[in-house]
Amino acid sequence: MQFPRKIGGILAVTILLVSTVLWLIWPPAPGAWTESEIELLRSLWIGSLPPVPADPSNAVADDPRAARFGQRLFFDTRLSANGEVACATCHQPEHLFTDGLDVAQGVARGERHTMGLAGVAYSPWMFWDGRRDSLWAQALAPLESPVEHGGNRLQFVELLVSDAQYRSEYAALFDELPELPAQDPAITEVFVNMGKAIAAYERLLVPGASRFDRYVQALLADDERQFEAMLSDDELAGLRLFIGDAQCINCHNGPLFTNNEFHNTAVLPARGKLPSMGRVAAVRETRADPFNCVGRFSDDPDANCAELRFARTGDDLIGAHKTPSLRNVALTAPYMHAGQMTSLTEIIDQYNRAPLAMVGHSEAKPLNLWRNERKQLEAFLRTLSGPLATSPEWLAAP
Ligand code: HEC
Ligand code: HEC
Repeated sequence: MQFPRKIGGILAVTILLVSTVLWLIWPPAPGAWTESEIELLRSLWIGSLPPVPADPSNAVADDPRAARFGQRLFFDTRLSANGEVACATCHQPEHLFTDGLDVAQGVARGERHTMGLAGVAYSPWMFWDGRRDSLWAQALAPLESPVEHGGNRLQFVELLVSDAQYRSEYAALFDELPELPAQDPAITEVFVNMGKAIAAYERLLVPGASRFDRYVQALLADDERQFEAMLSDDELAGLRLFIGDAQCINCHNGPLFTNNEFHNTAVLPARGKLPSMGRVAAVRETRADPFNCVGRFSDDPDANCAELRFARTGDDLIGAHKTPSLRNVALTAPYMHAGQMTSLTEIIDQYNRAPLAMVGHSEAKPLNLWRNERKQLEAFLRTLSGPLATSPEWLAAP
């Protein structure tokens, strides 16, 4: 009886050794998702994106004629001090409405990194610090900014008046353009309407499905053959980290991978620059903006503007910036509010270490991910690329 027992022992040890070796060579595929994980995945899926929210402050927000007029304005370099800068100079459709630069270059060099515009109509606040509260109010800022278009509203109205097509497009939507020379209220009214038309155009810019979305769609349809082929084991492991241990989903959530909120994540200032104070100073600026929700240019005089009145502010918003969408993130380097990071690897390393912030208090906690896990997380981010859902006629100058 001695002999078989020995063999049994040897066999058991061998099986254990072999399976350990096999596990090391081929780690098990990331297991099936739990019900609550599937709900999380559904919440990130592009199919969960609702229609663009209404904007009652803009009477022409969903008028296709306004979008067409706005598209012409968006691509028109005559709307600048030197005749060379349009919105599309920085927000280039072929680069997902970014420009590939660290900081924007208009009539002069700016201090902030150009933001992508796909899905921007879902955001209640515009800019890295959220200092404008509607798309149309935002559009007015670069037109008169001395580093972007560097123009002024009188010059813009003169241009519209001098261009027959603009004149008729404008009259069809609003009213006849004023006779020049005109007084300020009339000039500003036209200027605001330009912003509203540009906003109508921007509302059409929405992201489309990526490989990640096709994976979730197949998963929800229980189409095993499809979803198993869609993402690699590393990408799946990265997705699991994204919604799990790495806690990215705390801020990068919903179908646009952003909560549209403001957070301090200890991103260092650009070299030689002072740290940006971010959100903390912006709420005051929005409240003082004549084009805000409570101002007389809003088309919704009944709006209670609770979002603006009760906007959160305070010390925890020192150094906080808007969470950017992660859709197409692999295609839109460089990154962050001043373009101070150049690669996804660098960003994930930073989240992993979670250094102290130079101003304010960082919300990011060290993650202690292995090198392999950091690579998996990056592999997952690369599955979020896909063409915009916007029809191609809107993605070039009309
Ligand atoms: C010189 C380059 C440049 C030009 C020209 C420019 N932008 Fe921008 N845009 C930027 C930069 C940089 C930011 C971020 C600025 C900040 O946060 O301070 C930005 C931010 C935005 C945002 C906010 C996006 C968000 O998610 O909050 C919108 C919308 C936008 N621009 C639309 C426009 C429109 C419309 C025009 C033309 C009227 C325009 N931009 C002209 C560079 C530019
Ligand atoms: C506490 C909220 C929060 C968490 C958690 C968070 N992020 Fe972010 N993320 C932000 C904010 C805010 C920015 C912009 C910061 C800035 O520009 O200063 C950002 C920027 C980014 C960018 C750059 C995008 C661009 O277009 O510039 C990437 C990539 C990114 N985060 C990925 C991740 C990943 C991966 C995780 C998980 C490891 C994660 N984030 C966790 C809030 C967060």
